Amino acid sequence: MKYTQIPVSDAPLYLLLEADPSKKKIDTYLPGSWCFAAIDAGVVEAICVAKEIDTAIAEIFNISVSPKMRQQGIGSKLLKFTLSEITTKGVHKIELGTGTFGYQLAFYQRHGFRVDSVIKDYFLHNYDQAIIENGVQHKDMLRLSLDLTNRQQ
Ligand SMILES: CC(C)(COP(=O)(O)OP(=O)(O)OC[C@H]1O[C@@H](n2cnc3c(N)ncnc32)[C@H](O)[C@@H]1OP(=O)(O)O)[C@@H](O)C(=O)NCCC(=O)NCCS
Repeated sequence: MKYTQIPVSDAPLYLLLEADPSKKKIDTYLPGSWCFAAIDAGVVEAICVAKEIDTAIAEIFNISVSPKMRQQGIGSKLLKFTLSEITTKGVHKIELGTGTFGYQLAFYQRHGFRVDSVIKDYFLHNYDQAIIENGVQHKDMLRLSLDLTNRQQ
C-alpha cells in the first residue's frame, strides 16, 4: 500500500459518500482541499480530505477506507500520514466534526483527538436523510481537535 497526495479530482466519489452521504456537502469542501490516499496496485483504496480553514488550522472533512479493506490499520496509517503531511504544510491544529457515538469517535480519540464542543441538531439541519447507526439516529455533531505542535509521530 502506497500513501501519497493525489489531486482531489482523483478521489472516488463512492469513497467520499461512505463517510459523508451528502454529495451537496462534498461539493462545497472538495475544491481547494488536499487529498491524501492509500493506493494499492493503482487503485485508490482510502482517502483523507483536509483543507486549511484558518491560519495554520485545517479541518479533516472526509476520511474513508473501502469497505473490504477496513479494520486492517489502513485508516490509522492514512490519518497519521495526513497529519504528518499537513504539518509540513504549516498546519498546527487539525479539527473535524463527527457523530456523538460510534466507532469513528473512538477511532479519532485513539489518535489523540479531544472534544471541543457539540453542535446540537447538526445532522438534522444539514442532511436531507436521517443518518442511522446501530439503530440510533445521529442528531448532534461533536467538534474534535488535535494540537499538532510537539506531537509525537
Ligand atoms: C473510520 C475508518 C476511516 C477507519 O479506517 P480503518 O482502516 O477501518 O481503521 P483501522 O483499521 O486503522 O482501525 C482503527 C480502529 O477502529 C476499529 N474499527 C474500525 N471499523 C470498525 C467497526 N466497523 N466497528 C468497530 N470497530 C471498528 C478497529 O477495530 C480499530 O481498533 P483497534 O486499533 O483497537 O484495533 C473506516 O472504518 C471507514 O472508512 N468508515 C466509513 C467512513 C466513515 O465513517 N468515516 C468517518 C466519518 S466521521
